[in-house]
Amino acid sequence: MGSLSNQQSQHDDHTSMEQVAVIMVPLAAQGHLNQMMQLSCLISSYGLPVFYISSAIHIRQARVRVNGLNPLDVAKIHFHEIPVPPFASPPPDPNSSSKFPEQLQPAWNASLSLRQPFAAYLQEMSEKFKRVVVVHDFLMAAVVQDVISIHNAESYAFNCIPAFSQAFFIGEGVLDSSAERLKELHSLQGCIPEKMLEFVAIHAEPLRYRAGDLFNTCRLIEAPYLDLLEKEESGGNRKTWAIGPIVPTKLSSAAKPANKCLEWLDQQEPKSVIYVSFGTTVSLSDEQIKELALGLEQSKVKFLWVLRDADKGDIFDGQVRRAELPEGFEERVKEVGKVVRDWAPQPEILAHKSTGGFMSHCGWNSCIESITMGVPIAAWPMHSDQPRNTLFVTQVLKMGIVVMEWEQRTELVKASAIENAVRRLMASEEGNEVRKRAEDLAATLRQAIEPGGASRLELDSFVAHIIR
Ligand SMILES: *[C@@H]1O[C@H](CO)[C@@H](O)[C@H](O)[C@H]1NC(C)=O
Ligand SMILES: *[C@@H]1O[C@H](CO)[C@@H](O)[C@H](O)[C@H]1NC(C)=O
Repeated sequence: MGSLSNQQSQHDDHTSMEQVAVIMVPLAAQGHLNQMMQLSCLISSYGLPVFYISSAIHIRQARVRVNGLNPLDVAKIHFHEIPVPPFASPPPDPNSSSKFPEQLQPAWNASLSLRQPFAAYLQEMSEKFKRVVVVHDFLMAAVVQDVISIHNAESYAFNCIPAFSQAFFIGEGVLDSSAERLKELHSLQGCIPEKMLEFVAIHAEPLRYRAGDLFNTCRLIEAPYLDLLEKEESGGNRKTWAIGPIVPTKLSSAAKPANKCLEWLDQQEPKSVIYVSFGTTVSLSDEQIKELALGLEQSKVKFLWVLRDADKGDIFDGQVRRAELPEGFEERVKEVGKVVRDWAPQPEILAHKSTGGFMSHCGWNSCIESITMGVPIAAWPMHSDQPRNTLFVTQVLKMGIVVMEWEQRTELVKASAIENAVRRLMASEEGNEVRKRAEDLAATLRQAIEPGGASRLELDSFVAHIIR
């Protein structure tokens, strides 16, 4: 698959001095662990040894939830555990007015203590390899900052959100002059709590040590925003590579796994089903779940609903809340809908011919999978970059509709509003238009990641740069 095969794929002491090692440092949150895992497989396909570094808990999480990747590709990654001190792992609060996953904060704070052991590991690796390349989550910059004291090491930030949303975070000065649309969402209020902003601030200074940026996005859809970010960095010699969409490699070729979601989809009409999932960081209140259930039922549209509670810092730690559905709901809808509470194969669901829409919180993993599979989105943003991603998907890409305006985020979304959004996406002229647009975009993006495509060329260029 890789076009630069002069590197050995196996880590071998005899040859390692000529080799470049790539060390991946993800943030301990599912969406981030997942994108970093996919990126690891991609870089490894060029024949470079790739090391994936995290706590034992989060490496286990990343591995058990691998979605759509070829096991043979995952087997080539070297997983390296670094102990973190014990951290609290409280349950999410489904009744909180903010949907931000504050329950993950203790795990993230604990990750800051990886700095010293990581520095020691880096030192060791720098003696074994010609060059050590650290690719770290934006929010792990403080952990990898000692890279600057090692002569044959360098670091690159991996951005897990679209450039559009990232550009917004830079500040209004930039927005005023360059990107009219970004002004529509002014404040971070309700997106990110104060405590998290403090955590983000810890990484600001160390981020200045990075040699460049990788984006899980494609220049064909984000050129103006990538340009904006590059302009902000001018003066330094940082480079930006837009290498996305990073999607599982296996989907296009290998057979689908046996799974009850996919078997159920097999029995439905093409593009007839709306897939409903709000990712791994959102816990809906009992009241909201009831409205959602009734809204789906009243829409009379077929649905596949993944109903899960948000992750805890340690997903293996104890009981998880099992949300109640309205009395008799599953029995009443059994001809038209399916509710799933297990981990679902989302990329395969979105790639399935029966799936015609996605009701989503607009986390970037979900957006990018939906965009690449040509599935239009009914956007219901919850926190962080999601309100901006929603704007990007619905107003810039025009491949989605909005379920709920961000201004109404503290209100209960009523069954009638949900019913209306589902019908607009799945059974209206407007829905057909955004679906057509989603399908066209998917064709463009899938081409971009083929050999010679826009994003593939940028990835080739990144790999050529690090093995220079
Ligand atoms: C959330 O509120 C409901 C009542 O509105 C209550 O029954 C439930 O126990 C609360 N859940 C938690 C986890 O606090
Ligand atoms: C995490 O660290 C931030 C920033 O130092 C601090 O404000 C916050 O209280 C800490 N939170 C937890 C849960 O440890």
